[in-house]
Amino acid sequence: MAKRLALVTGGMGGLGETISTKMADAGYRVVVTYSPSNKTADKWVAGMKSGGYDFHAYPCDVADYDSCRSCVANVANEIGQIDILVNNAGITRDMTFRKMTKADWDVVLHTNLDSVFNMTKQVCDGMVDRGWGRVINVSSVNGSKGAFGQTNYSAAKAGMHGFTKSLALEVAKKGVTVNTISPGYIGTKMVTAIPKEILDSKIIPQIPVGRLGKPEEIAGLIIYLCSEEAAFVNGANIAINGGQHMA
Ligand code: CAA
Repeated sequence: MAKRLALVTGGMGGLGETISTKMADAGYRVVVTYSPSNKTADKWVAGMKSGGYDFHAYPCDVADYDSCRSCVANVANEIGQIDILVNNAGITRDMTFRKMTKADWDVVLHTNLDSVFNMTKQVCDGMVDRGWGRVINVSSVNGSKGAFGQTNYSAAKAGMHGFTKSLALEVAKKGVTVNTISPGYIGTKMVTAIPKEILDSKIIPQIPVGRLGKPEEIAGLIIYLCSEEAAFVNGANIAINGGQHMA
């Protein structure tokens, strides 16, 4: 059987890079997307190549439907049909609600939630027609519990799981699983950008394991969800947060 093809949005980012490399290590062909504003994508691909990873990389503004459509069409023409979609791309614009502007709200909702529609729409029919597929939506502990300074981000991340549950119902009989994973605070740039005093005084003390999570720990869960053994996991929201929040 040909190796399954996975597409990881934001696949060059902190978490995305580890997801992509671990999926390649696990035997998948991996396409990564990156923001069209990223001017160092070629360098990233070359660096990965020298490390033994042959990634295909495509620019894609996940907030823009037409950009997603042409990205996936190019992948289909040049590489193949996508079997696994990891909706990983995401941004933060953290600030208290009283300071938040409409633009801060819109950019986070478009990038973190509309993106899930924009990308899944391009691959869902093909997965159903072929009778196999995996859609994995990377949400956040803060979509489940809320977070100070994240009304926009928490709303988008909570919305992802509503999408997951409904689409899972629609495609479950067709060999396609749709799941959410909700990582806690992982040691990536997004988290280390939090002011150190807030991280040390307000966040780490709330994590019973006593540390940030590792990107590899998230990638391991995604690889499990892609496996044949995970065919019965559908419409789930899997928490992976060091005990910070137990729903
Ligand atoms: N819980 C409780 N109180 C908090 C708080 C928190 N997490 N964070 C800040 N505060 C308090 C401060 O102690 C301060 O209190 P006092 O006025 O009594 O001294 C007050 O809020 C500051 O309020 P401001 O409106 O002035 O806030 P600010 O503009 O200085 O900064 C903020 C607010 C940008 C939200 C900043 O606190 C921050 O960056 N917090 C972290 C937000 C966060 O957790 N982001 C997650 C990013 S990682 C991620 O998103 C990945 C993932 O999925 C987990």
